[in-house]
Amino acid sequence: MATFGERIANFFGGNDLETQEGLRGLFATELKDIYYAEKQAVDALGEQADASTTDEVRNAFLQHQDETRNQVARLEQVFSSIGIDVEEGSCDAIDGLVDDAQRVVSNTDSGSLTRDAGLIIAGQKIEHHEIASYGSVVTLAQVLGYTEAARLLQQTLDEEKNADKKLTVLAESFVNSRAASERDDDNDTYRNDTDRDEFDRQSVVKPDGTRYSDSSVGGSTESGYTSRNEGSAFGL
Ligand SMILES: [Fe+2]
Repeated sequence: MATFGERIANFFGGNDLETQEGLRGLFATELKDIYYAEKQAVDALGEQADASTTDEVRNAFLQHQDETRNQVARLEQVFSSIGIDVEEGSCDAIDGLVDDAQRVVSNTDSGSLTRDAGLIIAGQKIEHHEIASYGSVVTLAQVLGYTEAARLLQQTLDEEKNADKKLTVLAESFVNSRAASERDDDNDTYRNDTDRDEFDRQSVVKPDGTRYSDSSVGGSTESGYTSRNEGSAFGL
């Protein structure tokens, strides 16, 4: 009989036929759950874009919504590559995270930067969930020898990490400080279009990570979010 250590080694090496069969089933279940989660994310990103106050945050959500549609199609390729039918599973986590994002909208004033700050936090929670999910299935695909599936899933994992970084850059560039000033303002969280016109766009980082001006700042921004890319900008 195999020792515990041998069983663990076989499990991660995918050499134990019985264990590998279990891993195959686990991999398929995880894929179906991510497929469901990504479809929910497409809808949620549209809602978050519609609710956003600034063009910068809205565009970030819309860009990632397009990317997420591609990720759904990529998952269908993964299903095909391992010879199983495309099927949606379930994911209580994404359901809860989407509910949290909707609660941000209902608890903040339309047109406020506090809403954008809240939406970025909610968006990053979703990205972190996706990063954890894709990291797991990439490892499972590698262990199981599904080379093409691992390559496709790694591509999406990289996109999710990048989406998270973009939200961090956005948050650091303007939402944090502006939301704080709204809290200090006796007029509470409402912010009108005149305020937006007066906003200094020169300091704003666009969703692609570049600034509207001052290209010299780009390098420090990059190094800044590289060192903090595992957390939310609002947790600093
Ligand atoms: Fe995502």
